[in-house]
Amino acid sequence: MTNDHFSMNILISEDNIRERVKELVEEIISDFVYNETTIVAALKGSFVFLADIIREFHRKGSELIVEFIDVSSYSGTTVSQGNPLIREFKRPSVCGRNVLLVDDILDTGHTLSKCKTILENEHPMVLKTCVFLVKDVKRLVDITPDYFGFTIEDKFVVGYGLDYDGKFRELPYIAEIEEISTSI
Ligand code: XMP
Repeated sequence: MTNDHFSMNILISEDNIRERVKELVEEIISDFVYNETTIVAALKGSFVFLADIIREFHRKGSELIVEFIDVSSYSGTTVSQGNPLIREFKRPSVCGRNVLLVDDILDTGHTLSKCKTILENEHPMVLKTCVFLVKDVKRLVDITPDYFGFTIEDKFVVGYGLDYDGKFRELPYIAEIEEISTSI
C-alpha cells in the first residue's frame, strides 16, 4: 500500500513575513500611492498577501479600491504550465487610475506579464507591479516587478496563499514542499 504525504521545510517564517509586509507597504506608499489607488490582485494565490497589504495600507492612511483577476497556471502540478488562463471578473476599467497589480509569486513571468498587458490596454495613469515572492530562475518572459517581498531559490513552495492542488494555502509561513511516498 502506498501512503502519500509531504515533508515541509519552512523558508520564510510568519514573523519575517509580517515585518517585510510593513516595510514593503511603506516603500510603495513613499513611491507612488495616491488616494484611491486601485489594487488588482491575481487570484487565487495572492489572497493572503493581499489581505495583509491592504490592511497595512489602511493603517498608513491610504484608501484603496480592490479588484481581482482570476489566473490559473499550475492545475495540480509543480511545474508552471506556461500559458496561464485568465478569467476576468466584471470590474471597472482602470483607465486613468493609479494601479498596483499584485501577485503571489513570479516564476516564468507569463502570469504577471499577461495580467500587466490586460491592464496596460486599459490605459491606467500609473501601473506598478508587486509580487510577494520572486523565484531566482531564468524567466521565460522578460519582466521585473516594481516591488517584491522576498527572493527564493527555484523550489516549489506553499503557504501564505500558495497551494499544491488546493492544499496548504492556510499555512502562515512559506515552506518548501516535498512529496514522500511511503510503502507500507
Ligand atoms: P509564472 O510561471 O507564470 O507563475 O511566473 C506564476 C504563477 O504560478 C504559480 N506558482 C506557484 N505556485 N508554488 C505555488 O503554489 C510555487 O512555487 C509556484 N511557482 C509559481 C503562482 O500561482 C503564480 O501566480
